[in-house]
Amino acid sequence: MMEYQAILDTIQSNLQKIENTGTVAAYIPELAKVNKDNFAIYLNRVNGDNYGVGHWDVSFSIQSISKVLTLSKALQLIGTDVWERMDVEPSGDPFNHLSLLELENGIPRNPLINSGAIVIADILVSELKNPKEDFLQYVRDLTNDQTITYNENVALSEKETGFTNYATANLLKSFGNLANDVDTVLDFYFHQCAIEMNCQQLSNAFYLFANRGKCMRNVAHLTLSQVKRINAIMLTCGFYDEAGEFAFEVGLPGKSGVGGGIVALLPNNFTIATWAPGLNPKGNSFLGMQALEQFTTATGESIF
Ligand code: DON
Repeated sequence: MMEYQAILDTIQSNLQKIENTGTVAAYIPELAKVNKDNFAIYLNRVNGDNYGVGHWDVSFSIQSISKVLTLSKALQLIGTDVWERMDVEPSGDPFNHLSLLELENGIPRNPLINSGAIVIADILVSELKNPKEDFLQYVRDLTNDQTITYNENVALSEKETGFTNYATANLLKSFGNLANDVDTVLDFYFHQCAIEMNCQQLSNAFYLFANRGKCMRNVAHLTLSQVKRINAIMLTCGFYDEAGEFAFEVGLPGKSGVGGGIVALLPNNFTIATWAPGLNPKGNSFLGMQALEQFTTATGESIF
Protein backbone atom coordinates (compact mmCIF):
# COMPACT_ATOMS: atom_id res chain seq x y z
CA MET A 1 0.00 0.00 0.00
CA MET A 2 1.36 3.39 -1.05
CA GLU A 3 1.15 5.96 1.77
CA TYR A 4 -0.11 8.82 -0.42
CA GLN A 5 -1.07 11.15 2.43
CA ALA A 6 2.34 10.81 4.05
CA ILE A 7 4.01 11.46 0.68
CA LEU A 8 2.00 14.66 0.15
CA ASP A 9 2.74 15.82 3.72
CA THR A 10 6.46 15.24 3.18
CA ILE A 11 6.43 17.18 -0.10
CA GLN A 12 4.70 20.11 1.58
CA SER A 13 7.23 20.22 4.42
CA ASN A 14 10.18 19.82 1.99
CA LEU A 15 8.96 22.78 -0.05
CA GLN A 16 8.34 24.95 3.02
CA LYS A 17 12.10 24.80 3.61
CA ILE A 18 13.15 26.26 0.25
CA GLU A 19 13.03 29.89 -0.79
CA ASN A 20 10.06 30.55 -3.10
CA THR A 21 11.68 32.61 -5.86
CA GLY A 22 8.53 32.50 -8.02
CA THR A 23 6.68 35.72 -8.78
CA VAL A 24 2.91 36.20 -9.13
CA ALA A 25 1.74 37.04 -12.69
CA ALA A 26 1.34 40.81 -12.83
CA TYR A 27 0.55 41.37 -16.51
CA ILE A 28 -3.10 40.65 -15.68
CA PRO A 29 -3.51 43.19 -12.82
CA GLU A 30 -6.27 41.24 -11.06
CA LEU A 31 -3.96 38.20 -10.69
CA ALA A 32 -1.25 40.31 -8.99
CA LYS A 33 -3.52 40.55 -5.91
CA VAL A 34 -3.14 36.85 -5.07
CA ASN A 35 -0.99 35.88 -2.07
CA LYS A 36 2.10 33.99 -3.21
CA ASP A 37 2.20 31.91 0.00
CA ASN A 38 -0.80 29.81 -1.03
CA PHE A 39 0.14 26.18 -1.60
CA ALA A 40 -1.94 23.09 -2.29
CA ILE A 41 -1.81 19.59 -3.72
CA TYR A 42 -4.85 17.39 -4.35
CA LEU A 43 -4.61 13.78 -5.54
CA ASN A 44 -7.67 12.12 -7.05
CA ARG A 45 -7.26 8.42 -7.76
CA VAL A 46 -9.58 6.66 -10.22
CA ASN A 47 -10.29 4.02 -7.54
CA GLY A 48 -12.09 6.78 -5.59
CA ASP A 49 -9.41 7.58 -3.01
CA ASN A 50 -8.59 11.27 -2.45
CA TYR A 51 -5.79 13.06 -0.59
CA GLY A 52 -5.02 16.76 -0.06
CA VAL A 53 -2.57 19.11 1.62
CA GLY A 54 -2.58 22.89 2.07
CA HIS A 55 -5.17 25.25 0.57
CA TRP A 56 -6.79 22.68 -1.70
CA ASP A 57 -10.28 24.11 -1.15
CA VAL A 58 -9.34 27.70 -2.09
CA SER A 59 -10.33 28.80 -5.62
CA PHE A 60 -7.95 30.45 -8.08
CA SER A 61 -7.94 31.50 -11.71
CA ILE A 62 -7.34 28.45 -13.90
CA GLN A 63 -6.14 30.57 -16.86
CA SER A 64 -4.43 28.47 -19.56
CA ILE A 65 -5.53 25.21 -17.95
CA SER A 66 -8.91 25.98 -19.54
CA LYS A 67 -7.32 25.44 -22.98
CA VAL A 68 -7.45 21.66 -22.47
CA LEU A 69 -11.15 21.79 -21.63
CA THR A 70 -12.02 23.94 -24.68
CA LEU A 71 -9.98 21.57 -26.88
CA SER A 72 -11.89 18.64 -25.41
CA LYS A 73 -15.24 20.31 -26.18
CA ALA A 74 -14.14 21.27 -29.72
CA LEU A 75 -13.05 17.69 -30.48
CA GLN A 76 -16.38 16.44 -29.18
CA LEU A 77 -18.21 18.89 -31.46
CA ILE A 78 -16.28 18.78 -34.75
CA GLY A 79 -13.79 15.91 -34.35
CA THR A 80 -10.67 15.87 -36.51
CA ASP A 81 -11.73 19.00 -38.46
CA VAL A 82 -9.96 20.85 -35.63
CA TRP A 83 -6.62 19.81 -37.18
CA GLU A 84 -7.35 21.62 -40.43
CA ARG A 85 -6.86 24.88 -38.53
CA MET A 86 -3.85 24.13 -36.32
CA ASP A 87 -0.94 21.75 -35.83
CA VAL A 88 0.11 19.46 -32.95
CA GLU A 89 3.79 20.39 -32.65
CA PRO A 90 5.47 21.92 -29.58
CA SER A 91 6.30 25.56 -30.22
CA GLY A 92 9.46 25.87 -28.12
CA ASP A 93 8.29 29.46 -27.62
CA PRO A 94 6.59 31.38 -24.81
CA PHE A 95 2.79 30.99 -24.71
CA ASN A 96 2.03 34.38 -26.26
CA HIS A 97 4.65 34.59 -29.02
CA LEU A 98 3.50 35.93 -32.37
CA SER A 99 6.45 35.49 -34.69
CA LEU A 100 5.90 31.79 -35.55
CA LEU A 101 2.26 32.48 -36.33
CA GLU A 102 3.20 34.95 -39.04
CA LEU A 103 5.93 32.72 -40.48
CA GLU A 104 3.54 29.77 -40.57
CA ASN A 105 0.71 31.66 -42.29
CA GLY A 106 -1.73 31.87 -39.40
CA ILE A 107 -1.68 28.15 -38.52
CA PRO A 108 -0.93 27.89 -34.76
CA ARG A 109 1.63 25.28 -33.71
CA ASN A 110 -0.78 23.66 -31.24
CA PRO A 111 -4.04 24.27 -29.32
CA LEU A 112 -2.36 25.04 -25.97
CA ILE A 113 -0.47 28.21 -26.93
CA ASN A 114 -2.58 31.37 -27.01
CA SER A 115 -2.96 31.51 -30.81
CA GLY A 116 -4.21 27.90 -30.97
CA ALA A 117 -6.53 28.41 -28.02
CA ILE A 118 -8.01 31.50 -29.71
CA VAL A 119 -8.80 29.40 -32.81
CA ILE A 120 -10.43 26.78 -30.55
CA ALA A 121 -12.44 29.60 -28.92
CA ASP A 122 -13.55 30.64 -32.42
CA ILE A 123 -14.74 27.08 -33.10
CA LEU A 124 -16.76 27.04 -29.87
CA VAL A 125 -18.26 30.47 -30.59
CA SER A 126 -19.40 29.08 -33.97
CA GLU A 127 -20.65 25.72 -32.70
CA LEU A 128 -22.32 26.52 -29.34
CA LYS A 129 -25.70 28.21 -29.14
CA ASN A 130 -24.84 30.29 -26.05
CA PRO A 131 -21.05 29.92 -26.03
CA LYS A 132 -20.14 31.22 -22.54
CA GLU A 133 -23.14 29.62 -20.80
CA ASP A 134 -22.82 26.30 -22.65
CA PHE A 135 -19.07 25.98 -22.08
CA LEU A 136 -19.45 26.76 -18.36
CA GLN A 137 -22.17 24.10 -18.16
CA TYR A 138 -19.79 21.60 -19.82
CA VAL A 139 -17.10 22.36 -17.22
CA ARG A 140 -19.63 22.06 -14.39
CA ASP A 141 -20.84 18.72 -15.73
CA LEU A 142 -17.31 17.33 -16.12
CA THR A 143 -16.47 18.42 -12.58
CA ASN A 144 -19.83 17.34 -11.17
CA ASP A 145 -20.05 20.72 -9.45
CA GLN A 146 -22.64 23.34 -10.40
CA THR A 147 -20.97 26.11 -8.33
CA ILE A 148 -18.06 26.76 -10.73
CA THR A 149 -18.18 30.27 -12.28
CA TYR A 150 -16.31 32.89 -14.26
CA ASN A 151 -14.60 35.65 -12.28
CA GLU A 152 -15.85 38.72 -14.18
CA ASN A 153 -13.20 40.98 -12.61
CA VAL A 154 -10.40 38.77 -13.96
CA ALA A 155 -12.02 38.60 -17.41
CA LEU A 156 -12.34 42.40 -17.51
CA SER A 157 -8.81 42.91 -16.21
CA GLU A 158 -7.45 40.76 -19.02
CA LYS A 159 -9.64 42.46 -21.62
CA GLU A 160 -8.23 45.84 -20.60
CA THR A 161 -4.61 44.68 -20.83
CA GLY A 162 -4.77 41.91 -23.45
CA PHE A 163 -2.96 43.77 -26.23
CA THR A 164 -0.91 40.75 -27.30
CA ASN A 165 -4.00 38.57 -27.49
CA TYR A 166 -5.72 41.25 -29.62
CA ALA A 167 -2.67 41.28 -31.90
CA THR A 168 -2.77 37.46 -32.11
CA ALA A 169 -6.48 37.37 -32.92
CA ASN A 170 -6.09 40.07 -35.57
CA LEU A 171 -3.20 38.19 -37.17
CA LEU A 172 -5.31 34.99 -37.23
CA LYS A 173 -8.17 36.97 -38.76
CA SER A 174 -5.89 38.44 -41.44
CA PHE A 175 -4.85 34.91 -42.43
CA GLY A 176 -8.48 33.79 -42.61
CA ASN A 177 -8.20 31.49 -39.56
CA LEU A 178 -10.90 33.21 -37.47
CA ALA A 179 -14.53 32.96 -38.59
CA ASN A 180 -16.09 35.25 -35.97
CA ASP A 181 -15.15 38.81 -35.08
CA VAL A 182 -12.13 39.43 -32.90
CA ASP A 183 -14.02 40.98 -29.96
CA THR A 184 -16.54 38.13 -29.71
CA VAL A 185 -13.84 35.45 -29.79
CA LEU A 186 -11.63 37.23 -27.26
CA ASP A 187 -14.57 37.85 -24.93
CA PHE A 188 -15.07 34.07 -24.87
CA TYR A 189 -11.31 33.43 -24.48
CA PHE A 190 -10.90 35.91 -21.58
CA HIS A 191 -13.85 34.28 -19.82
CA GLN A 192 -12.62 30.70 -20.23
CA CYS A 193 -9.29 31.81 -18.69
CA ALA A 194 -11.19 33.51 -15.84
CA ILE A 195 -12.90 30.32 -14.62
CA GLU A 196 -12.11 29.73 -10.97
CA MET A 197 -11.58 26.34 -9.37
CA ASN A 198 -9.79 24.90 -6.36
CA CYS A 199 -7.38 21.97 -6.62
CA GLN A 200 -10.05 19.41 -5.79
CA GLN A 201 -12.36 20.73 -8.54
CA LEU A 202 -9.48 20.84 -11.00
CA SER A 203 -8.55 17.25 -10.31
CA ASN A 204 -12.23 16.36 -10.85
CA ALA A 205 -12.45 18.35 -14.11
CA PHE A 206 -9.51 16.42 -15.59
CA TYR A 207 -10.71 13.05 -14.33
CA LEU A 208 -12.00 12.04 -17.79
CA PHE A 209 -8.47 12.24 -19.25
CA ALA A 210 -7.31 9.63 -16.71
CA ASN A 211 -10.53 7.62 -16.92
CA ARG A 212 -10.74 6.71 -20.62
CA GLY A 213 -13.04 9.63 -21.51
CA LYS A 214 -15.58 9.15 -18.72
CA CYS A 215 -16.08 12.05 -16.27
CA MET A 216 -16.73 11.99 -12.52
CA ARG A 217 -20.41 11.23 -13.21
CA ASN A 218 -19.32 8.22 -15.30
CA VAL A 219 -20.64 9.84 -18.51
CA ALA A 220 -18.56 9.22 -21.66
CA HIS A 221 -17.53 12.52 -23.31
CA LEU A 222 -14.57 11.47 -25.45
CA THR A 223 -13.45 8.38 -27.34
CA LEU A 224 -10.33 6.52 -26.24
CA SER A 225 -8.56 7.82 -29.30
CA GLN A 226 -9.47 11.44 -28.47
CA VAL A 227 -8.20 10.98 -24.90
CA LYS A 228 -4.93 9.59 -26.24
CA ARG A 229 -4.47 12.61 -28.49
CA ILE A 230 -5.34 15.19 -25.81
CA ASN A 231 -2.92 13.58 -23.34
CA ALA A 232 -0.18 13.52 -26.00
CA ILE A 233 -0.70 17.24 -26.66
CA MET A 234 -0.54 17.99 -22.92
CA LEU A 235 2.75 16.10 -22.65
CA THR A 236 4.38 17.80 -25.63
CA CYS A 237 2.82 21.28 -25.44
CA GLY A 238 1.30 21.79 -21.97
CA PHE A 239 4.17 23.85 -20.57
CA TYR A 240 5.15 25.94 -23.60
CA ASP A 241 8.93 26.28 -23.83
CA GLU A 242 9.26 24.22 -20.66
CA ALA A 243 7.37 21.15 -21.93
CA GLY A 244 10.61 19.19 -22.25
CA GLU A 245 11.63 20.12 -18.71
CA PHE A 246 8.23 19.06 -17.28
CA ALA A 247 8.34 15.71 -19.11
CA PHE A 248 11.93 15.23 -17.90
CA GLU A 249 11.28 16.16 -14.26
CA VAL A 250 7.72 14.91 -13.77
CA GLY A 251 6.92 12.49 -16.60
CA LEU A 252 3.18 13.10 -16.83
CA PRO A 253 0.86 14.86 -19.30
CA GLY A 254 -0.31 18.09 -17.71
CA LYS A 255 -1.16 21.75 -18.11
CA SER A 256 -0.17 24.92 -16.29
CA GLY A 257 -1.80 28.34 -15.96
CA VAL A 258 -0.46 31.75 -14.96
CA GLY A 259 -2.78 31.68 -11.93
CA GLY A 260 -0.22 29.21 -10.52
CA GLY A 261 -2.20 26.03 -11.05
CA ILE A 262 -0.92 22.82 -12.62
CA VAL A 263 -2.94 19.70 -13.29
CA ALA A 264 -1.36 16.43 -14.40
CA LEU A 265 -2.49 12.84 -14.74
CA LEU A 266 -1.48 9.23 -15.10
CA PRO A 267 -3.93 7.37 -17.39
CA ASN A 268 -6.03 4.74 -15.58
CA ASN A 269 -4.53 5.80 -12.27
CA PHE A 270 -4.92 9.40 -11.01
CA THR A 271 -5.22 13.12 -11.60
CA ILE A 272 -3.24 15.53 -9.43
CA ALA A 273 -3.61 19.30 -9.10
CA THR A 274 -1.22 21.76 -7.48
CA TRP A 275 -1.52 25.47 -6.75
CA ALA A 276 1.33 27.81 -5.86
CA PRO A 277 0.94 31.28 -7.45
CA GLY A 278 4.65 32.18 -7.68
CA LEU A 279 5.74 31.53 -11.29
CA ASN A 280 9.18 30.76 -12.70
CA PRO A 281 10.51 32.84 -15.62
CA LYS A 282 8.72 30.57 -18.14
CA GLY A 283 5.33 31.28 -16.53
CA ASN A 284 4.91 27.90 -14.80
CA SER A 285 4.42 27.49 -11.03
CA PHE A 286 7.84 27.39 -9.35
CA LEU A 287 6.75 25.22 -6.39
CA GLY A 288 4.09 23.29 -8.31
CA MET A 289 6.65 21.82 -10.70
CA GLN A 290 8.86 20.77 -7.81
CA ALA A 291 5.92 19.26 -5.92
CA LEU A 292 5.04 17.10 -8.92
CA GLU A 293 8.66 16.09 -9.50
CA GLN A 294 8.87 14.94 -5.88
CA PHE A 295 5.53 13.13 -6.17
CA THR A 296 6.43 11.02 -9.21
CA THR A 297 9.92 10.34 -7.84
CA ALA A 298 8.58 9.24 -4.43
CA THR A 299 5.78 7.06 -5.84
CA GLY A 300 7.53 5.83 -8.99
CA GLU A 301 4.22 6.57 -10.77
CA SER A 302 4.73 8.30 -14.11
CA ILE A 303 4.10 7.37 -17.74
CA PHE A 304 7.77 6.36 -18.01
O1 DON B 1 -3.94 34.81 -22.46
C1 DON B 1 -3.26 34.90 -21.45
O2 DON B 1 -2.16 35.45 -21.46
C2 DON B 1 -3.77 34.31 -20.16
N1 DON B 1 -5.20 34.40 -20.09
C3 DON B 1 -3.42 32.85 -20.03
C4 DON B 1 -1.97 32.58 -20.08
C5 DON B 1 -1.54 31.38 -19.33
O3 DON B 1 -2.13 30.95 -18.37
C6 DON B 1 -0.27 30.82 -19.78
N2 DON B 1 0.14 29.79 -18.87
N3 DON B 1 1.07 29.44 -18.36
